[in-house]
Amino acid sequence: MLIRLQNITKHYTVGVEKIRALDGVDLEIAPNEYVAIMGSSGSGKSTLMNILGCLDRPTTGVYELDNRRVSDMGAARLARVRNERIGFVFQSFELLPRATAARNVELPLIYSPGGWWARRSRARSALTTVGLADRMRHRPNQLSGGQKQRVAIARALVNRPAILLADEPTGNLDSATSEEILALFGKLHEDGQTIIMVTHESDVARHARRIIRMKDGRVQSDLPVEKDAVHA
Ligand SMILES: Nc1ncnc2c1ncn2[C@@H]1O[C@H](COP(=O)(O)OP(=O)(O)OP(=O)(O)O)[C@@H](O)[C@H]1O
Ligand SMILES: [Mg+2]
Repeated sequence: MLIRLQNITKHYTVGVEKIRALDGVDLEIAPNEYVAIMGSSGSGKSTLMNILGCLDRPTTGVYELDNRRVSDMGAARLARVRNERIGFVFQSFELLPRATAARNVELPLIYSPGGWWARRSRARSALTTVGLADRMRHRPNQLSGGQKQRVAIARALVNRPAILLADEPTGNLDSATSEEILALFGKLHEDGQTIIMVTHESDVARHARRIIRMKDGRVQSDLPVEKDAVHA
């Protein structure tokens, strides 16, 4: 199993209030799954993504990624797992504004062996995968929204991550551009990429193969897309 979560909780204390952002989540995700996580605001989706992406650790419970127990790793080891195994895509792209597309895509490679030329050629190949080989030297303000998100996806892929994690990847895009990004995700999934994305929109979620619905920090339902309500 690629991902195994056992009885994961994430609790926060704010003043006297205890918030159960995650309240006992059990989940298994196999390689090459394409999963959408849905649920109302505050249901725990981003908290779950942060734990899956090794950006944060659970309060209690066990998280195994590739059969390695990451839930009790120290910060430095966790950062390394994150850098090597996880690619992130965000709603707001999170590109460096002054850096070219190629430079943005190279960023996750700063710890990898090889010199400038090796990094540049991997950036070129990732940008080719997302259809932007001809935009290597453009800066973010010289790119459309959909192109910016493609650069962000290339950056997420450049380390060949085990998991692509996307939190509302089409949230800032119009519907036609969203469809292009989702077509790209579909192609990446066909090529073997494991994808987990958070979305509020049924039209987006129905591109995935499996839909996990969160409610009050728990998994409310977990169904293949054909059996979930988005299919209706
Ligand atoms: N750092 C924190 N400190 C205290 N409470 C937090 C913290 N982060 C999240 N929460 C709380 O945990 C719950 C789950 O938050 P989370 O961000 O995971 O929701 P979400 O499903 O991603 O919502 P949205 O759809 O609005 O992005 C919320 O009630 C939130 O207020
Ligand atoms: Mg969120």
